[in-house]
Amino acid sequence: MSDNNIFPVFHKIVQREDKEELLKQKSKIIWLTGLSGSGKTTLAKNLDRELYNRGFITQVLDGDNIRSGINNNLKFTQEDRYENIRRISEVSKLFLNCGIIAINSFISPTEEIREMAIDIIGKENFIEVFVNAPIEVCEQRDIKGLYAKARRGEIKNFTGIDSLFEKPQNCDIEIHTDLQSVKESIKQLLDYILPKIKKD
Ligand code: ADX
Repeated sequence: MSDNNIFPVFHKIVQREDKEELLKQKSKIIWLTGLSGSGKTTLAKNLDRELYNRGFITQVLDGDNIRSGINNNLKFTQEDRYENIRRISEVSKLFLNCGIIAINSFISPTEEIREMAIDIIGKENFIEVFVNAPIEVCEQRDIKGLYAKARRGEIKNFTGIDSLFEKPQNCDIEIHTDLQSVKESIKQLLDYILPKIKKD
């Protein structure tokens, strides 16, 4: 092959916009933050289904598929939580560049941690959803029995008990899962999200 056959291919690299065009959607990261037991997973799974039913391609990232795999060497110190969210944010960026909508369900407990995620992902790509239920309600629900263990001192650094949760100050949507049904919460989410992910 002569030099004449070597030509720059950068102009041919498939762009995010091309993939969004193919998928007929605009990619975003929908980031659910909130206490353990606030309802993040329930909303993520229901939203995933509702978006699928409307023809959108999505990926849910949560403790089940992240902390058990790519982040299985991380615990719940502040440093590890930071690293957890940093890696998740980098992974999210790959989905973004594939034109895929990621639904991320993580406590992401501090403004600093959430700001780092926004810095990596880009404000224009990021939809911050505060899944807000009072700690008393989350503790009452205690679906995984972790609050009881934390109260007994069997789990240290548990968010809301002996580890900080800072309420988001600049979220795009706030969902009060103690005051409304899952159906109502999903409607609230869809009303906000659909116009942002629909291709014109
Ligand atoms: S984050 O703080 O780094 O964002 P992440 O969302 O990945 O946390 O994980 C939270 C989940 O891990 C909780 O829903 C709970 O099931 C489990 N968990 C185990 N130990 C802790 C702890 N010390 N604090 C909070 N969640 C914990």
